[in-house]
Amino acid sequence: MHHFAYRSGRLHCEDVDLSRLAGEVGTPCYVYSTATLQRHARVIAAAFEGQDCLIAFSVKANSNLAVLATLAAEGCGADVVSGGELERALRAGIPAERIVFSGVGKTAREMALALDHGIHQFNVESAGELRLLAQVASGLGKDAPIAIRVNPDVAAGGHPNISTGKKGDKFGVPWAEAEPLYAEAASLPGIRVVGVDVHIGSQIGDLVPMRAAFEKVVGLAQRLRAAGHEISRIDVGGGLGIPYKDSDEPPPPSAYAAMIAEVSAGLGVQVILEPGRVIAGNAGIMLSTALYEKEAPDRTFLIIDAGMNDLMRPALYGAHHEIQPVAEPAANAPRKTYDVVGPICESTDKFAAGRDMAAVSPGDLIAFMSAGAYGAVLSSAYNTRPLVPEVLVNGDKFDIVRRRPGLEEMLQLEQVPDWLSPTD
Ligand SMILES: Cc1ncc(COP(=O)(O)O)c(C=O)c1O
Repeated sequence: MHHFAYRSGRLHCEDVDLSRLAGEVGTPCYVYSTATLQRHARVIAAAFEGQDCLIAFSVKANSNLAVLATLAAEGCGADVVSGGELERALRAGIPAERIVFSGVGKTAREMALALDHGIHQFNVESAGELRLLAQVASGLGKDAPIAIRVNPDVAAGGHPNISTGKKGDKFGVPWAEAEPLYAEAASLPGIRVVGVDVHIGSQIGDLVPMRAAFEKVVGLAQRLRAAGHEISRIDVGGGLGIPYKDSDEPPPPSAYAAMIAEVSAGLGVQVILEPGRVIAGNAGIMLSTALYEKEAPDRTFLIIDAGMNDLMRPALYGAHHEIQPVAEPAANAPRKTYDVVGPICESTDKFAAGRDMAAVSPGDLIAFMSAGAYGAVLSSAYNTRPLVPEVLVNGDKFDIVRRRPGLEEMLQLEQVPDWLSPTD
């Protein structure tokens, strides 16, 4: 459920008319709903009530400081994958003891930063990383609490590019190598084993692969305990899917929580969750303006002012976003079939092909729904287009929480070396 709806003929985010917002901020821009973020965090917390659980929002899904601060106020922790994300989470008010550090390529500098802050857990993804962490932690006179991310060889996820738990994926430690690596971890200085971690993919619409992976992980945790390891946490990662279309019916958080409770019953562990999309996805949209309609022999292109640099998901993994006009179309309004494309010089700069939707005229505002996760975070300045701004709505108020940089600001990051500068 989200708080984007038509009122008096205009699409609103909570109590804010999106045509007024677009007039003030300009397009393209992202708009997030505070009430929706809060609702999603609360639904997950309620589903896990009674289980010892840490909800560590996956910062990669949406790392805007205002979004993180909204979730911090809900008591969420954070799952981070870089020193930059760690700094963001801390700056947004998420305490270090609620932060887990995932990712396959942590550097010594990032490890030291996380150790200095005293984070909850490192999710270690390789033998090399484990050994470096031991060196860094013991050099600082600290113990790094670790879980090893295991690769359970279970396929899942809405697209091959977001499946992460299959043999051959770069993520996690191969299943057969996990137990020997735990034995090595126990022998290393500066390492304190606390749990097991798994994350098998994203936009998962079915609990069956998740259950299969978690059952394997619980079995592993039991064997590790029998071998003398202190396993007090299981990190189940993120991955729960969301509805991008009316026909999508992902499992509700309550069913997900019940499955986890059942699989981990009697184990007496803290369950760490790393939800990203399920909290932020339907809490955001991207607003754009239609620029031109262009007829080709076999199709009509709707050219808009947003490009794949602003919303990459369709180009990256063929993702579907519903497109709604901001002015509510009448029931009998004409419809048209479009290829909706952006201004970028790439053929993959296409948001929808053959999309039947309410006819749109140049100048009309449209909204890409369900764009709050993996939207603005993936944006770039390709084609020297300024980074897309982000706006947070709260009731009848809104604030620009990332402004659009000016061209001067963008160019200031670059310089022409002396030998290329004209001498006189
Ligand atoms: C390690 C890890 N945890 C959590 C997530 C969040 O996944 P989702 O947004 O599907 O909940 C991801 C994203 O792929 C991830 O790589």
